[in-house]
Amino acid sequence: DGDSIPVCLDDVEAIALKKMSKNAYDHYRSGADDQQTLGDNRAAFKRYRLRPMFLRQDVSTRDLATTIQGVPVDFPVGIAPTAVQRMAHPDGEVATARAAASVRSCMIFSTYATSRMEAVAADTPDGLRWFQLYVFKNQKQTEDLIRRAEQSGYRALVLTIDCYHSGTKRADIRNKFTLPKHLRTENLSDDGKPYDGVCGLGFAPLLWSDVKKLKSFTKLPVVVKGVLTGEDAVRAVESGVDGIMVSNHGGRQLDGVPASIDVLSEVVQAVQGRCEVYLDGGVRSGTDVLKALALGARAVFIGRPALYGLAYNGEAGVKLVLQMLRDELSLAMALAGCANIGDIQRSLVVHESRYLQ
Ligand code: FNR
Repeated sequence: DGDSIPVCLDDVEAIALKKMSKNAYDHYRSGADDQQTLGDNRAAFKRYRLRPMFLRQDVSTRDLATTIQGVPVDFPVGIAPTAVQRMAHPDGEVATARAAASVRSCMIFSTYATSRMEAVAADTPDGLRWFQLYVFKNQKQTEDLIRRAEQSGYRALVLTIDCYHSGTKRADIRNKFTLPKHLRTENLSDDGKPYDGVCGLGFAPLLWSDVKKLKSFTKLPVVVKGVLTGEDAVRAVESGVDGIMVSNHGGRQLDGVPASIDVLSEVVQAVQGRCEVYLDGGVRSGTDVLKALALGARAVFIGRPALYGLAYNGEAGVKLVLQMLRDELSLAMALAGCANIGDIQRSLVVHESRYLQ
């Protein structure tokens, strides 16, 4: 049951559910509308099968290390940007950043964080942190965010392109969701209106030409987050991006789009190695990570599991979630005949339809 020691990410969620208010848990958990995409993100992983190849090499020790945007990480799982982390635990983003740094992973810090980006950076100066950017109508606000991220040592900008306006979360409407009174979105200067889970009201219209402008405005690598088609992947590459995050925002935006893992191959094929491709959405186990890597992701990111880890036990809870995924991936690699990340080939994974004729 949910009170015993958690042995997998679903156990952590079960405990977190008991610790959080309904207002908070529903806000974190929900997807948009009928939540078809939310459910499919997880279901789709189970539609892929692994094809282990045995006895080719010694897999008694595994090396999970890789690089993202040229920077070393100990294993290819990072933390996706999620808003208002102090609603899960008083330490919020500080705890998440510490946990990520302690296992040499990467944290993506949200524009809607409830901690100041400078404070988090000063607290974990050696941690790898990327900054997730929303582009506001108030151009100065956007430019300030970028310069502050650069100056406080964030190593990439992650431009989210699927959130011109938030999708409808029915549970938030039913609960009349509000951010607890003591919390603020600390990085937004003219944030007159308190965060109510709806973003986009102050956002500027965004075009691919703006992505080019962003590239010339900053020296940081730019990753676009939210690509779901080969066509947009090509436009992203042509706009000069350094990375693409295949993502449907955890099923929180346009309901009815495919699961992230189902889109990954299309994007990888369109990109043709011209930039790194990452994935988030529904990653909950080491075999999920293995499948995404086999289908061409350089790394994967987790959104809700980090929030549930926070609610479970703050920094230690997030660290546990990351360690579980690391250890599950390591074991899955051993059982699949892979000693390092480079051994994870496309032929390791196949869609279930192959076995269902
Ligand atoms: C998000 N996500 C998100 N993305 C983003 O670019 N900026 C943000 O501020 C947020 N905020 C946010 C809040 C909450 C509560 C959730 C659940 C998600 C999307 C996030 O980065 C990521 O795409 C998904 O969470 C990945 O799916 P999983 O891992 O939650 O299944």
